[in-house]
Amino acid sequence: MLKIIMRFKNIKIIEDPELLINARKPEGKLGSKLIEKMNVNHEGLAQWSLSHLDISKDDVILDIGCGGGVNVDRFLKITENKVYGLDYSEAACEKSALLNEEAISDGRCEIIQGSVSELPFDDNTFDIATGFETVYFWPDFINDLKEVHRVLKDDGRIFIANEALPKENDARQKELIELLNMKIYSKDQLEEYLLEAGFSNVISYVKESKDSFTGESADWICVIGQK
Ligand SMILES: C[S@@+](CC[C@H](N)C(=O)[O-])C[C@H]1O[C@@H](n2cnc3c(N)ncnc32)[C@H](O)[C@@H]1O
Repeated sequence: MLKIIMRFKNIKIIEDPELLINARKPEGKLGSKLIEKMNVNHEGLAQWSLSHLDISKDDVILDIGCGGGVNVDRFLKITENKVYGLDYSEAACEKSALLNEEAISDGRCEIIQGSVSELPFDDNTFDIATGFETVYFWPDFINDLKEVHRVLKDDGRIFIANEALPKENDARQKELIELLNMKIYSKDQLEEYLLEAGFSNVISYVKESKDSFTGESADWICVIGQK
């Protein structure tokens, strides 16, 4: 791990690798610091992408890879039903629970530590399952999508929002992928994998924008699929 950090420091493509490496699974003090940054930096992506998703006041919503819990908080203001946040990082769950503590004590919200690969929910539980800036790290993408499909109600929707599409010959993106051991999916891949996992009516939207951490140009994407 140290070696990787040094190498990235030396080539100076990524400004703060120790902090960024936490994006995969925030841990400890640095993880908490990154979560706070993500809560702010990902606001633009959340607002743009959610403009493409209809949410009703009856929807039961699960946010997977909920990080610091701002989207859980956002959903609690839209639906009158329950909102769940799930993340495999303890630090992320702590932050999410703190931000949403009032709703948790009102019985409207639950924050659960767990993996997308084994969701601790019954079949047909949710109307909407979202994932913001998280699918890059899912270990077994198609099977993980099938797991999300399982916990959605009939006609339930999956919603994925990413701040990155693959860039050919982009040194920074290549280094980032190696540093974080992540996968950046193209629009075609996301659509194809959703279909393969059993979703239908798959639709995606792309916007030319900027990476919220570096300010470099980046394409944002959101994809919606129906069970
Ligand atoms: C880049 S952060 C994004 C956090 C938040 N969704 C946001 O937009 O600010 C990615 C989050 O996904 C979580 N994550 C990654 N892989 C996961 C998995 N397999 N199961 C559950 N959570 C996961 C990480 O712990 C982290 O909190």
